[in-house]
Amino acid sequence: MVDTTRVQAIASLAQDTIPEEFIRSSNEQPAITTYNGPAVPDIPTVDLNHPDQDNVVRLIAEASREWGMFQVVNHGIPPEVIKKLQEVGKHFFELPQEEKEAYAKPPDAKSLEGYGTNLQKDPNGKKAWNDHLFHRVWPPSCINYQFWPKNPPSYIDVNKEYTKYVVEVADKLFTALSLGLGLEGGALKGGAGGEDIEYMLKINYYPPCPRPDLTLGVVAHTDLSALTILVPNEVPGLQVFKDDRWIDAKYIPNALIIHIGDQVEVLSNGKYKSVLHRTTVSKEKARMSWPVFLEPPSDWVVGPLPQLLDPANPTTPYKTKKFKDYMYCKLNKLPQ
Ligand code: SIN
Ligand code: FE2
Repeated sequence: MVDTTRVQAIASLAQDTIPEEFIRSSNEQPAITTYNGPAVPDIPTVDLNHPDQDNVVRLIAEASREWGMFQVVNHGIPPEVIKKLQEVGKHFFELPQEEKEAYAKPPDAKSLEGYGTNLQKDPNGKKAWNDHLFHRVWPPSCINYQFWPKNPPSYIDVNKEYTKYVVEVADKLFTALSLGLGLEGGALKGGAGGEDIEYMLKINYYPPCPRPDLTLGVVAHTDLSALTILVPNEVPGLQVFKDDRWIDAKYIPNALIIHIGDQVEVLSNGKYKSVLHRTTVSKEKARMSWPVFLEPPSDWVVGPLPQLLDPANPTTPYKTKKFKDYMYCKLNKLPQ
């Protein structure tokens, strides 16, 4: 029996139409709302290993103020490590449905970890064209191997190896972002939880879709995280909202796509912008992506860094609150 709660199963039955609940309203449909030019701007790309590190800091800070998103090349993660990460994740999503269901997120679990569909509650009852797998990858004390696929057998080692590199890239990014605010290098990482920052991997799987013009893979949102470090596959689909237009992110082989998340917007007192983004899907190919969300521990209190407030008038539009309370309000669409 086909389990129609998974988009992958629905996609395997779909011929040239899609179920009504996947059809977005006209103000969201990608065929109508994607900006096609003239002069489509590119998301900034930064060479992380460039000898002029002052300029790297300047470029990262500028991209984070103006776009909330940038790509990085020369980030130090070997291409073969990225390739293996992609292969083992693809292998998992191509397993028979019953095998994937063994990793399903328990219905009443508090954590997001596990295999699932439809993260966000949509007030219109609409669905997005996406299945996913969530599991924490760092620090080791946060890992629950129950949600790490045992098939393929190399899944665990490959993901551990990728994580080792991602932790190094994260440190470089936090340092550059802190220096770009005129702060000491450890300021933002310290504010987001320091060595206790939790790294949550999501694998997004967007099956081929007969009507990519009408639906979205993930609807417009900003990330809850402090930062998100993402590897895409070769199928384009990520879009960023800039100057009131939806702009496609160009696929650069082996680049990482960095999103400024809500927690860095708060910590930086709004100097850096959490980026509004969404994804489109493809008619012929499965699109996949591997974002790692860098999140404060749930009881960690996040607010604007005091160094960024005027001591004479420390007013700010941002609240100081526990990460778990921020997350609860956002996921339940309550005011912050
Ligand atoms: C997401 O924002 O969760 C997905 C981004 C992507 O698939 O590129
Ligand atoms: Fe996102």
